[in-house]
Amino acid sequence: MHLRLALTLVLIAIAPAALARGDTMQTIMATHVNPAALAFWAAGNDPPDGETPAQASLRWAAALKGAEAMQAWGKVLQQPPFTRSGRWNDDARLMIEVARLGEPVIRAHDAAKAFEMGGRLYDACNECHKLYVPRRGATIPRESPLNPP
Ligand code: HEC
Repeated sequence: MHLRLALTLVLIAIAPAALARGDTMQTIMATHVNPAALAFWAAGNDPPDGETPAQASLRWAAALKGAEAMQAWGKVLQQPPFTRSGRWNDDARLMIEVARLGEPVIRAHDAAKAFEMGGRLYDACNECHKLYVPRRGATIPRESPLNPP
């Protein structure tokens, strides 16, 4: 009992501020990991038509926040109650690693490199989804843009 409480407190201490009671894998993915990844991918995509320099800096800033968020949530995924057996934690760590390596690329506003990192990020998402979400493929990223089916 005491151990359980201690683990909970540790989890709360390392978790992003947004971790709410009642969060499930689905809500973590839909409201945190996926938006963070979209912002990260936007750094490597063609800029929207007519993007002003101010909008561009916002886009890069959002990508950096996305990289930070994925690193934080990747830690949460490795903790109870979310961690699972098998390759799960390795996949969460891969997401963290790619997000971490993406940070200097985003800070340098290097769109070509950011595109490449985006492909690697996709692979990290897919690796976990293929193993742990076998029937949800229609709505969940599975194939890397660099590695089409
Ligand atoms: C360690 C495993 C793991 C990693 C890494 C992971 N996911 Fe997921 N993801 C899941 C699981 C499990 C579900 C199914 C959740 C459920 O509905 O129970 C899921 C579901 C989703 C969903 C569907 C959410 C919904 O509304 O139903 C999206 C979108 C998603 N993930 C995006 C991503 C993206 C983008 C990445 C990479 C940046 C990623 N995931 C990385 C395990 C992972």
